[in-house]
Amino acid sequence: MSTNRKWIPARKTHLHYYDDIPLYYRTPSGNISLYKPAGLSFTHESLERKYAIDEFFIHPKNRLESIEAAQKGFNSELKSHYTNSDITDLKNSLTDLVEETLTAPRAGGLARVPQTVNQLVDGFSFNPTVIRNLAKISFNDYTTALHSINVMALTLGYCYYVSLPEDETRKLGLAALLHDVGKTEIPAHILKASRPLTDKEFEKVKSHTTLGYEILNAYKEDEISEASLACIEHHEKLDGSGYPEGKQIISYMGRVLAIVDCYEAITNDDRPYRTALSPLNALELIKKDVDDGKLDAEIFRDFAYSLTNFDKRKLK
Ligand SMILES: [Fe+2]
Ligand SMILES: [Fe+2]
Repeated sequence: MSTNRKWIPARKTHLHYYDDIPLYYRTPSGNISLYKPAGLSFTHESLERKYAIDEFFIHPKNRLESIEAAQKGFNSELKSHYTNSDITDLKNSLTDLVEETLTAPRAGGLARVPQTVNQLVDGFSFNPTVIRNLAKISFNDYTTALHSINVMALTLGYCYYVSLPEDETRKLGLAALLHDVGKTEIPAHILKASRPLTDKEFEKVKSHTTLGYEILNAYKEDEISEASLACIEHHEKLDGSGYPEGKQIISYMGRVLAIVDCYEAITNDDRPYRTALSPLNALELIKKDVDDGKLDAEIFRDFAYSLTNFDKRKLK
């Protein structure tokens, strides 16, 4: 096969999900050749050892199928993660899964994401600490996927603290995971620029809100299209100073995500030229926006409490 560029590298954490997906490898002479056909389990034995293969590929025509296989496999394994408490492992697979899912959001790749979020929400009831700790694990490469998972974990912690009904929690968790989906269409050199952005670049970044809205609204699954509100509203401010529309009336979903998103971004090095703030300093900074009437005061207070009250709920 000629151009290697179009082959999709398979993620190591996902290989065992690809029973029904053909896998390819690069031969010592540099050609791409079939490693295993569909219908055969992936095995580390034989060929891999003999030729020391450490990279496997998926044919572009199997892209969507492979995303679905990984989501399905991950979802069915998710329950066991709550009992064996290796959270780093869970976060690794989840990050890979979300990164992969975000490679094809317009092609229907998000269809199984609500199922993943629902299972995470279900898991909360018998082990809240797992999700709480998810946000605490950082990897060196800060990506949109990692940020989205952190925002989701923090949001679910907030939902638990305020005893939000389960269906609302599921909606908010999904919206948190997908709020920045529009960033998949912003060039990486802008997102990862190691200097402050030019005005033109900043305008481009701002468009992730409307792009995300469009992407999610194109889904026929109601829960996904409902999350589009989060895309368009998470950068709006109650005094009208936000973007893209300068709205002053913002949904509950948009108001929660504005706070959690902001907190997550400033407690991590979301840009190489900025340094991460401690949780306390981050809350102080956000509090200024609350005092200026930009962010919701009650949600802010509850969110701040939810960060320290691990297994507790707010007294009513
Ligand atoms: Fe955003
Ligand atoms: Fe964000």
